[in-house]
Amino acid sequence: MAVLDQLTSQEAIDLENKYGAHNYHPLPVVLSRGEGVYVWDVEGKKYYDFLSAYSAVNQGHCHPKIVAAMTEQAQTLTLTSRAFYNDMLGKYEKYASETFNFDKLLPMNTGAEAVETALKICRKWAYEVKGIDENEAEIVVCENNFHGRTTTIISFSNDPVARKNFGPYTNGFIKIEYNNLEALEQTLKNNPNVAGFLVEPIQGEAGVYVPTEGYLSKAKAICEAHNVLFIADEVQTGIARTGKMLAVDHENVKPDILILGKALSGGAYPVSAVLADDSIMNVIKPGNHGSTFGGNPIAAAVAIAALEVVKNEDLANNAQVLGELFRSELSKFIETSSIVNSVRGKGLLNAILINDDEDSDTAWNICLKLRDNGLLAKPTHGNIIRFAPPLVMTREQLLDCVSIITKTLKEFEV
Ligand SMILES: Cc1ncc(COP(=O)(O)O)c(C=O)c1O
Repeated sequence: MAVLDQLTSQEAIDLENKYGAHNYHPLPVVLSRGEGVYVWDVEGKKYYDFLSAYSAVNQGHCHPKIVAAMTEQAQTLTLTSRAFYNDMLGKYEKYASETFNFDKLLPMNTGAEAVETALKICRKWAYEVKGIDENEAEIVVCENNFHGRTTTIISFSNDPVARKNFGPYTNGFIKIEYNNLEALEQTLKNNPNVAGFLVEPIQGEAGVYVPTEGYLSKAKAICEAHNVLFIADEVQTGIARTGKMLAVDHENVKPDILILGKALSGGAYPVSAVLADDSIMNVIKPGNHGSTFGGNPIAAAVAIAALEVVKNEDLANNAQVLGELFRSELSKFIETSSIVNSVRGKGLLNAILINDDEDSDTAWNICLKLRDNGLLAKPTHGNIIRFAPPLVMTREQLLDCVSIITKTLKEFEV
């Protein structure tokens, strides 16, 4: 078989199984094209994408403005490394810093790298600004967090599949219950060495857990009272996904450190970033941190275009309006359903809870049926299915999707 031969779905799956590490368990569908809210498999079948590459493709597949920015930059200058300046990075840093109201941005590539970067900045700030003794800093994190896959990040995960046999782990983290202000208050009171609180404004991978209203603003106030940095991981919730540019905007919270990834590029290219004001970001000096590809000219051009699309097309408002419609339509269905217990979420980051055990395969089987019926989604954990379509969806398309979802769920009613 020549490398460029068109494969059948089965051939493509067989190749991945044989030559690729088995570090994922994909739904059996092989995609070869995407446009807006749609993707097509290699046999030409069309689907609604209801995952958006884990909320990376908020602007829709192959958005023409993002693709144009990327191809134009790719034909001009791709990579200089940070050994030299390039004429795109500063423009992007200014645009993104002003968009999110921070003094500075540190460019990276993946979400996990940006989280690592934030942790490093927080620790350095602890020693050089807060005055904690060297190697004594602690960072508070939440139970059931998901922040990526590096050794340090999995050190404070409580997902046994992500952790087991990857030790020894990195020290310096204290885990508390999510959505528990009392636990945060007590932990900060009892530990003067806490430097930061790392939190997802909505826990995405854990199953779209939306905290109680007021949690984020009160948590921020508690952090402020103890001189602890509030670090918001908006890799999944950011860039209009939840109905505001950032999920923390729902509570008018400005984090001390903001972590972005995924939709910062509209899913066209790996682009992530950490943003902070000078009093924090200036602890980073030449040689402290970096990445060959971080801040490359293509990433800069793509991210500017991706943010412009979000603003010009008012995707936050669309996510807000369609999200409400989605939850209200699903709630109506749930009233009469024995297979779904509840729907929850914010904007277009939603999940349904299937009425079965966490280790049952019902949610997986529902996703297979959804695929057959023309809509792609995936369970997050056993019995939870996340629904996160591109934010460029129309009302008609969303209602069409609701009817595919409810029709499919009805097939599983007992
Ligand atoms: C909240 C959050 N942080 C970090 C990450 C890691 O991002 P990446 O997969 O790009 O490393 C993810 C990925 O799902 C995420 O949801």
